[in-house]
Amino acid sequence: MAGIYLHIPFCRQQCHYCDFYRVVSHGDNSLFIDALKKEMIIRKDYLAGSNVSTVYFGGGTPSLLKAEETASILDHIRNLFRVDSEAEITLEVNPDDVSHKYMKDLHRAGVNRISIGIQSFRDEDLKLMNRRHTADQGREALDIIRKSGFDNVSADLIYGIPGMGTENWAANIDEILSFDIRHLSAYHLSIEPGTVFFRMKEKGQISEVDEDESTAEFNLLLDKTGKAGFINYEISNFGKPGYFSIHNTNYWKQVPYLGLGPSAHSYNGYSRQWNISDVKNYIRSVNAGKPLFEKEELDIRTKFNEYVMTSLRTMWGIDLLYVERIFEKEGYDYVVNLSGKFIDYGLMRQDNNNLFLTSQGMMISDNIISEFIMPSP
Ligand SMILES: C[S@@+](CC[C@H](N)C(=O)[O-])C[C@H]1O[C@@H](n2cnc3c(N)ncnc32)[C@H](O)[C@@H]1O
Ligand code: SF4
Repeated sequence: MAGIYLHIPFCRQQCHYCDFYRVVSHGDNSLFIDALKKEMIIRKDYLAGSNVSTVYFGGGTPSLLKAEETASILDHIRNLFRVDSEAEITLEVNPDDVSHKYMKDLHRAGVNRISIGIQSFRDEDLKLMNRRHTADQGREALDIIRKSGFDNVSADLIYGIPGMGTENWAANIDEILSFDIRHLSAYHLSIEPGTVFFRMKEKGQISEVDEDESTAEFNLLLDKTGKAGFINYEISNFGKPGYFSIHNTNYWKQVPYLGLGPSAHSYNGYSRQWNISDVKNYIRSVNAGKPLFEKEELDIRTKFNEYVMTSLRTMWGIDLLYVERIFEKEGYDYVVNLSGKFIDYGLMRQDNNNLFLTSQGMMISDNIISEFIMPSP
């Protein structure tokens, strides 16, 4: 089993919070698409013949691709890899790219899961974040997507937005749940170096919400999604039964994946590598037959740290039998000894051979997880 991730690095404009690799583009994507297809040919053996069970078009803005461009990329993938007939094929869309015809064409091309970036239903928030769309465009897009034949629909929201406040966040959750979506990704705003928000924060034009507000908003999220039948299977991800993101779940379960396009990461069980974050050099290097990337071989300590960091964020938690098998007595004792105090504080719990964060623990997950990182000797 394996996944394929395609990074489509173009956006019409840059959102003030975003630090994903992307460039502003209004034009022709054909040189990029040619390079993406060439990279697939060059790297077709990376997955060592494994069946591909998920394909994910992320970005950037994959909905800037024409439906026929997406279709031709998918055809190319199917020609080069063994793609399961039931594979989950996700494409991220921005609301202002959605039309009935476009969504129908994507569906026909084989896309069977849509992830739409709604972020908020308040125009003030969208303006502050420099989103391209209005709240009404978000509402309309959600309706169109469902009416175009897509059943597996996910939406992204952001909370902890300066000036939004807990009541408006509650209204945003209620409204997104009133649409017939199957999955919700809700992220706390993080203000990253290099973004416009970071500069605004430095100038005192915005400030991060305080811890009480963050906690209250996370609690609202857990409560309202739980009552609506969603399962919080990862800190920021909520799915109806049978609708968890298979692609993302596989990342957290150490399933290999091939990442194509600038800045995309790949993992094969032994090493991680990431493509150059520069679209021009990406295209040039692929056309020269040598895609530029950096690589890290994973030693046992790094594998342990990655496992603990990702599994603690999920509802499956740390599997102690797996830890004992792969990381032996040293890893097992380390986890069990460290978890004791968190269990005493009510921040973690143990259920048979699995260790999880409690909802209280999830609120300070970054602090707890950082304590589990095994330092180098
Ligand atoms: C990289 S975006 C791609 C999706 C698409 N381009 C869009 O904007 O809707 C994936 C999601 O990550 C979330 N995101 C990105 N940067 C974030 C940040 N700094 N804080 C919180 N959420 C963020 C947003 O919810 C966004 O929809
Ligand atoms: S959030 Fe999405 S649309 Fe906005 S800049 Fe980032 S990738 Fe582009």
